[in-house]
Amino acid sequence: MTVEIRPYAESDFVGVEALWREAFPDEPPQNAAALAIPAKLAMQPDLLLVAAEELQIVESINAGYDGHRGWLYNVAVLQSHRRRGIGAALVRDAEKRLAALGCPKINLQVRTTNEVVVGFYWRLGYAIEERISMGKRL
Ligand SMILES: CC(C)(COP(=O)(O)OP(=O)(O)OC[C@H]1O[C@@H](n2cnc3c(N)ncnc32)[C@H](O)[C@@H]1OP(=O)(O)O)[C@@H](O)C(=O)NCCC(=O)NCCS
Repeated sequence: MTVEIRPYAESDFVGVEALWREAFPDEPPQNAAALAIPAKLAMQPDLLLVAAEELQIVESINAGYDGHRGWLYNVAVLQSHRRRGIGAALVRDAEKRLAALGCPKINLQVRTTNEVVVGFYWRLGYAIEERISMGKRL
């Protein structure tokens, strides 16, 4: 069954929060939906994408384009809906939206322990690039 991938709407909050709790149980408090969603809506709100099936939010992706590279975050599919190809369709949809903005390349980070997700992105044409990921909290 194909689900319509569309930009997030305010009424989706409860469903997206539940999805993220299930998909990202170890996320730190600063990544909680209550903080991350309003922050995203202030920047490229059309690139926070969701899909619902029978009123339940079943998938999400938070894409962004900074004028140089595109990024993907919060790629999540409800456990009950996995391995049906909808995660792949979701990433491809976000890729099209980023490409339409002129984005030439997408980067993303995966925890080194998350081999399943590395395999998922590999299937979608993403390659492992020899980089060290660095970050600084502001
Ligand atoms: C990663 C995730 C979004 C994949 O969603 P999905 O809808 O199940 O993915 P798809 O059905 O489109 O899978 C596409 C391909 O990826 C690979 N893949 C996906 N899940 C896999 C798994 N659990 N084990 C092995 N391969 C897997 C397979 O090659 C699959 O193709 P196939 O089913 O024809 O073999 C989902 O597992 C998820 O939400 N995980 C938790 C959140 C997370 O870690 N997100 C990534 C943050 S960086």
